[in-house]
Amino acid sequence: MVVIAFASLKGGTGKTTLTYNLASFWADSGRKVLAVDFDPQGNLTFAFLPPESLPEEAYTRWLFSRKSPQPFQVSENLWLLGSDNKLSSWDMRGTSPDLFLPSQLIRSLPFELVLLDTPTGWRPLTRAAIFSCDYLVVPVDPSPFAVAGIVQLVEGLVELSERQGKAAEILGVIVNLAEEHTRITQKVIASVKQLMSEERFLGVLSKSVRVKETVLERKPLHVLAPQSKLSQQIEEIAKSHREEGDEKVRKKKDTLSELEERGAKVLEQLEPKRRKAFRTAKQQAIETERQQEGSEMTAKVTVRMPVDLVKALKHRAIDEGRTFQDLVTEAVRKFLEQ
Ligand SMILES: Nc1ncnc2c1ncn2[C@@H]1O[C@H](COP(=O)(O)OP(=O)(O)OP(=O)(O)O)[C@@H](O)[C@H]1O
Ligand SMILES: [Mg+2]
Repeated sequence: MVVIAFASLKGGTGKTTLTYNLASFWADSGRKVLAVDFDPQGNLTFAFLPPESLPEEAYTRWLFSRKSPQPFQVSENLWLLGSDNKLSSWDMRGTSPDLFLPSQLIRSLPFELVLLDTPTGWRPLTRAAIFSCDYLVVPVDPSPFAVAGIVQLVEGLVELSERQGKAAEILGVIVNLAEEHTRITQKVIASVKQLMSEERFLGVLSKSVRVKETVLERKPLHVLAPQSKLSQQIEEIAKSHREEGDEKVRKKKDTLSELEERGAKVLEQLEPKRRKAFRTAKQQAIETERQQEGSEMTAKVTVRMPVDLVKALKHRAIDEGRTFQDLVTEAVRKFLEQ
């Protein structure tokens, strides 16, 4: 099984459009595909079918409940786990260990290829989806912030791998909504190529009104307009992955740190001031999250901790000149990481 998530911190870059069209294309090419909607907006779900026709056990939220969901079959080789607004309650539980449950449950389902549509931004649901996948595909639109968005996502991945001991590889970046003759599109393509190695530049998708028709008609592009330029471009990306995508990526282990380093350089050239402001804001956000995590976990564990462990920690606190609170947080962290 290969699990691919479509993710970008910026909204409206084409995550849902790509998940929908690639899932449909690969399924029609004979692969057994599961599409999973991790976005409470439910746009992917809506693209496949009217939401009311989805049975209760075919919702993505089941992946968080320790029960195996029953994906809904939408065509011969394609199944869906759909979402609606109820999924957003998981965005309120930022530090819950249950956010990592989908990762195991997805692996227990009998599919060859699983595609995850993620919500915009670095939210708990985004992290849950990213933690569940092997590879990330990052669509960007031709905007001045495209490269910054990729770098921020890489930094999020590095952070996730430090905390959870595992993170997905970036399969590649796609420049979507391209108007090839415009300067901004050309500039974004050049910067993305500077940032990513050649095999991680997955391609360019033109802007086309056909995309909206696919949702209206509930038909993917390769069925609705197979001869259109956009359909051909999507097909090319789909075929290149099938032939070589994952093998190529597996060979490179240090991708994230390499990318982070290169990203910092590219960004420094592009926009030094913005970069500095972002770093400070990010550091503050991480600090706040850590503090919240520490106090939340301590509160839970003081109830359950054996009395002699509490005593031992109190003695250690005195011996080592550290606070009791500190040692408890450390013990809980170690326990949760086991
Ligand atoms: N190549 C394209 N040409 C024209 N329109 C496109 C193209 N790709 C996406 N769109 C349109 O742009 C909008 C955003 O696309 P999409 O919903 O796929 O992005 P998203 O990243 O999933 O957005 P969100 O952040 O809301 O989840 C949609 O209205 C979609 O129809
Ligand atoms: Mg979307």
